[in-house]
Amino acid sequence: MLWLKRRKVRALAALFFIVSFSTFLLSCTVHDPSFFFRSSLAIPAGPCACQHCITELEDDTWFSDKLNHSVQLLLTRTNAEVSDDTYKWWQWLQSESNPANLSVVLDRLFQVIPGEDCYMDAGPTRCRTCSVVGNSGNLRSSGYGHLIDAADFVIRINQAPTEGFEEDVGYKTTHHVMYPESAIDLNSNSTNLLLVPFKTLDLEWIISALTTGTVTYTYMPVMPRIKVNRNKVLVYSPAFLKYVHETWLDSHGRYPSTGFLSLVFALHICDEVNVFGFGADRLGSWHHYWEENSLGRAFRHTGVHDGDYEYNITQLLADKGKIRLFKGVSKPLMFQWDE
Ligand code: C5P
Repeated sequence: MLWLKRRKVRALAALFFIVSFSTFLLSCTVHDPSFFFRSSLAIPAGPCACQHCITELEDDTWFSDKLNHSVQLLLTRTNAEVSDDTYKWWQWLQSESNPANLSVVLDRLFQVIPGEDCYMDAGPTRCRTCSVVGNSGNLRSSGYGHLIDAADFVIRINQAPTEGFEEDVGYKTTHHVMYPESAIDLNSNSTNLLLVPFKTLDLEWIISALTTGTVTYTYMPVMPRIKVNRNKVLVYSPAFLKYVHETWLDSHGRYPSTGFLSLVFALHICDEVNVFGFGADRLGSWHHYWEENSLGRAFRHTGVHDGDYEYNITQLLADKGKIRLFKGVSKPLMFQWDE
């Protein structure tokens, strides 16, 4: 009789275990439909496969209110829409007189560049890292080169040189952000040129610089031709520029700087973002890393961007753990040995 009792207890225990385990699996699947798929492939839970994902802490309402996943980042063949409202705002930026017909220009643009949708592949199996490299003098003697190059995407801006500064800024460039008046030739066939169009003429310039070379002047002389792989040319959409200005900068400054635009772009296309070369150097100067302070044009005093406001938002993103902000050498070099 005793053995019958024991069997009953074992059967009851087994039944209890099966019921509890099934309830557990069911609740996991209801809350996260990809649970079975991820557990069988040992894929970590969460929005990406990095240790920290930008979109992880959705409990931060400030951040989730700002990051708009549905904003149009680039002008592409399938999404070249510019609403009337956006067009009006965009035309005001550099007050272009007699702009060409935008849809005609866009048609011509996509005969020259691919205009494909890209980077919208976020998911639990992706871990894409970005280094956004601004041009601040705080990169001098920083030794950040290796750290910058370790990212999947290295985004550089405007005239930024690497030659002669490799130890501090690295070698690698996957994306070079520029507008006609700040353009430079690219050394590598695999680097993407990311154009910031501030006016219709900027779109005409890139078409011309890749073909006939006829556009030589905007509000100042510009490069008639540019060395770049035309299959690697991407163009920010005016809607993205407006979104960054209004949503991220609360309309401070006339329009966002190329550096700040690129930082927000990185938040959208990468899972982890490291930021270098933003803000003042250790002496409070805002000049470029390749120029001597007394000779360079200070970013803070362009009159177009609100450098302080942009920097405060950048710092806030770092405080909230959304980006890592590398500030360079923080004290005068002569005190370094003391640390
Ligand atoms: O001066 P430039 O616009 O070419 O620099 C590229 C970007 O680097 C700027 O748009 C700005 O966002 C950032 N920058 C900065 N502090 C500096 C110089 C540049 O934050 N001292």
